[in-house]
Amino acid sequence: MEQTSDPNRTITTRRISFEPSLEGLPKLFATDEDLIRSHLVAVLTSLFPDGEDFFVAAVRHYRDRITDPVLKKQVAGFIGQEAIHGREHRVLNNALADLGYPTHRIEKMTAWGLGMRLRKAPPITNLALTAALEHYTATLAELLLTSDLEKEFSHEGIRDVFLWHALEESEHKAVAFDVYRAVGGSERMRIWTMKVLRPGFAIFLAIHVLVSILSTPEGRKRGALRKSWRSFKQSEIVSKDVWSRLKEYDRRGFHPNDRDTTELEAKWRGILFGEEGTLNELLVTKAAA
Ligand SMILES: [Fe+2]
Ligand SMILES: [Fe+2]
Repeated sequence: MEQTSDPNRTITTRRISFEPSLEGLPKLFATDEDLIRSHLVAVLTSLFPDGEDFFVAAVRHYRDRITDPVLKKQVAGFIGQEAIHGREHRVLNNALADLGYPTHRIEKMTAWGLGMRLRKAPPITNLALTAALEHYTATLAELLLTSDLEKEFSHEGIRDVFLWHALEESEHKAVAFDVYRAVGGSERMRIWTMKVLRPGFAIFLAIHVLVSILSTPEGRKRGALRKSWRSFKQSEIVSKDVWSRLKEYDRRGFHPNDRDTTELEAKWRGILFGEEGTLNELLVTKAAA
């Protein structure tokens, strides 16, 4: 029986290493040395490695229930991509910790919280949470792939990490969702998970960004936070449009592929990994060949 929503989709695991391109990363790497943007990115990258381990575990739990060979392959691609995201974001988190960001504290807390969920919560709720968070990441990924990134990141290395991650999040955005549906996850649970997660995750992020900023001397400088906030509130990431895209998930019958991003993905696959791809030289397999 067909369980995938897109039988033509191949999900490639790209073995890549960003370590060399992260050298010389400045402390405030966002454009104009913006405080909130730099710390928001630092908080997000701190959450990724353990978050992605959790996604993989939640999906892997149901691997045996996937009978469609195409979805099976897509799951393998999803697991491969998330594993490398986790590894590369750990490299970035170490670089940020050296610069004074509290990335390791956030990593530890995430590992503890999600580890507890994996041990105690019913597996279907973990899969529902994974599908909802994948909608969050796919929404942010689309935003990133359509934004003027020069305006966001002043350092090319960190910009590349986020571009690569955004492309792959977009490529595999339907996999956890398709698994959830294939194993009989209910619409009610799916929608309620997002209803709680949407504000919950936004508040969680805001608190961590604030704590992270205030833990640094430049963040405690008089007026610094206010100045950054004046600029950040114009950002697309806090726009009504992003919120309503997140809300689309609440509709009964919603599917991640309702929003067609195939052209956007093809464009970025070409830019990053095409014949003259800007990230080809970071691919480990190519270097080893
Ligand atoms: Fe990821
Ligand atoms: Fe993902």
